[in-house]
Formats: sequence, structure tokens, C-alpha cells
Amino acid sequence: MVKKIIVFGGTGYYGRTVVTALVARGQMVRVVSRNAEGARAVVGSDVDIFEGDVTHTGDISKALQGMDVIVICLAAMSVKLIRKMKAIERDAVLNIMFEAKKLNISRLIYMSGYEMRADLLDELKIPEFGAIKIEVEAALHASDLNWTILGDAPAFDLFFAFLRGGKMTVPGGGLKAIPTISAEDVGEITAQTALREDLGGQRIRLTGPRAYTFPEVAELVSEITGVTVRHLSIPLTAVRVVSALLYPFTPFPRYLYKSLILLNNFPSDLADEVPRDHQKLLDLFDYKPRTLEIEIESRLCPKD
Ligand SMILES: NC(=O)c1ccc[n+]([C@@H]2O[C@H](COP(=O)([O-])OP(=O)(O)OC[C@H]3O[C@@H](n4cnc5c(N)ncnc54)[C@H](OP(=O)(O)O)[C@@H]3O)[C@@H](O)[C@H]2O)c1
Repeated sequence: MVKKIIVFGGTGYYGRTVVTALVARGQMVRVVSRNAEGARAVVGSDVDIFEGDVTHTGDISKALQGMDVIVICLAAMSVKLIRKMKAIERDAVLNIMFEAKKLNISRLIYMSGYEMRADLLDELKIPEFGAIKIEVEAALHASDLNWTILGDAPAFDLFFAFLRGGKMTVPGGGLKAIPTISAEDVGEITAQTALREDLGGQRIRLTGPRAYTFPEVAELVSEITGVTVRHLSIPLTAVRVVSALLYPFTPFPRYLYKSLILLNNFPSDLADEVPRDHQKLLDLFDYKPRTLEIEIESRLCPKD
């Protein structure tokens, strides 16, 4: 059966892959974007685009008219939006939930972080880093919506972001194994979740097959490309100092610094569970996972 699915954040890095997977399944997709023309260029012509801003409640209720399923992939993780993070990632999401209830739309998929542990964030002295997602997840649990929370691992891009000129230079070293996933797999799994009725009330962690440390990835890149990549560690304090200096101009580097703290303190019990979490995805969803090896080959090995 064809469903009408609205994707908030459907032009974003993960959101656009959700839209692609839904369109491929012949669903009717509406994407909310602040810029209709830009959105059209990103999501193509098979999608209904609603130009609107989620910080305006009126836009949310208009956009939701006639929809069956809501997918939320909103984020404010950019220099331009970071100051509006609470309005976009918290207030707007709570408003979407409120308006959904009024319009009798019960199915809602919420993209979150891999796992939000308040005690770990407190211990690392970065409680505000996950506060919004923790609050939204609690609001979903308390609601009578038919919600599914998807705890997304970072995209494989994370590793490539630190790779330049034969060196993988990582603040703090990146010595803890972390889960990562391909954006395409996130899109595929999210689309299937949106179309299923049996995953309500579940929180599912989305990860690729295994967790890697940055030195392991440097080694893997060297093996696959045949060109040696050296792993280098720079002190996290250097990033802290720069982010503090820039803070009066933009809080964004400070936010990145906090994400690096988390990256360097990723809980090993969660990393150990990655193969099991990935197997659960294989059991639950019909897709062929894209591995980091495939990603390295396609990005770094020239085609003949
Ligand atoms: N990317 C990752 O590696 C990663 C890792 C873990 C978890 N996640 C989670 O996945 C979700 C999506 O992240 P992402 O990286 O894909 O986001 P992103 O690329 O930064 O995209 C953000 C999206 O939010 C929309 N948006 C922002 N402000 C808006 C506003 N005022 N009104 C309407 N739309 C607005 C943007 O739409 P327009 O610009 O078109 O208006 C865009 O589609 C987030 O919950 C994030 O925490 C992502």
C-alpha cells in the first residue's frame, strides 16, 4: 500500500537517503525544506516539496496535512544553524509530535544519536551534548504515538574527514573503537522502518558490521589502496583552545570539540555489541549492507 510520508530534514545528509529509498519503493514523499529550489535539486522531481521552517508552528501543521507517517531527520549541526539548535532539534520536534496528535497521525520515526547515555555525558562534563535528544526520546516514550527511535551511528565519512595527504590526523587519537555506517544503509533501514507497523515502541541502533578505531582504519585504507596511510594523534587540548578562542564568534567549534571528546571516550561495552546490533539489523531488515571496505574502495581506488 502506498503511504504518504513526510520527511523533516529530507534534504540532509541522512534524510536525502531516506527519501531516495522511499521513492524507490513507490511511496508518496513530502520533504520540508526552508528552500524549495535547493531541495528540488537535492531530492529530485518525484517528491512533493513543502517550503517551510520548522521553527514556525504554522508551517508544521500545514506540512502535516494529509500525511500518514512522519520521519524526523532534523539537525542544526552547522555553523549557520548551531545557535538555533534548541528551536530546531527540540522545540520543533516536540511541536511536530503535538501537531501529529491533533491530526491523528500516529506513526513517527525519530533519528537520534547511537545511544544517549546521560551518565557518560555527565562524567565527560558535556551533559548538554546529548540533552536535547535525551529529552525528545523521553517525550516519545511518554507519548501514545506509534514511534520508533533509530540510534544512528556516524556515517563512514567521519573517517575520511581526518584523512589528508597520506595521513590520518585525529585529535585525541581516536583510539576507541566506534560504530559507523553508510548513509545509504541508514536511508534504506529508515525507509523500511517507516513502512512497517511492527516496530512501534522500539529503539534500534543503526551500525555497520563492526566498530573500528582510527589506527585500524588507517591500516585498512593502506591495505586496500596499497598506499601507506600514517595515523597521527594531536592533543585534544589544541582543539579546546582554538574552540574557546572562536567561541565569541561561533559556538560551532566548541560543539565539534565536544563531539571529539565523545569520540575518544566511546564506551567499549557498546563497541563490543556492534556485531550483535548489526546482526539484529540483518535479521530485521531486507538490505545488503555497505561495508567500510567497499566505501574505501569506491572512494579511494581509481577505476580502470
Ligand atoms: N550525519 C551523521 O553522521 C549523523 C550521525 C549520527 C546521528 N545523526 C542524526 O541524524 C539526523 C540527521 O542528521 P544529518 O547529519 O543528516 O543532518 P544535516 O545533513 O545537517 O541536515 C539537516 C536537515 O535539517 C533541515 N533543517 C534545519 N533547520 C531547519 C528548519 N528551521 N526548518 C526546516 N528544516 C530544517 C535541513 O533542511 P533545509 O536545509 O533544506 O531547510 C536539512 O534537511 C540528526 O538527528 C542527527 O543527529 C547524524
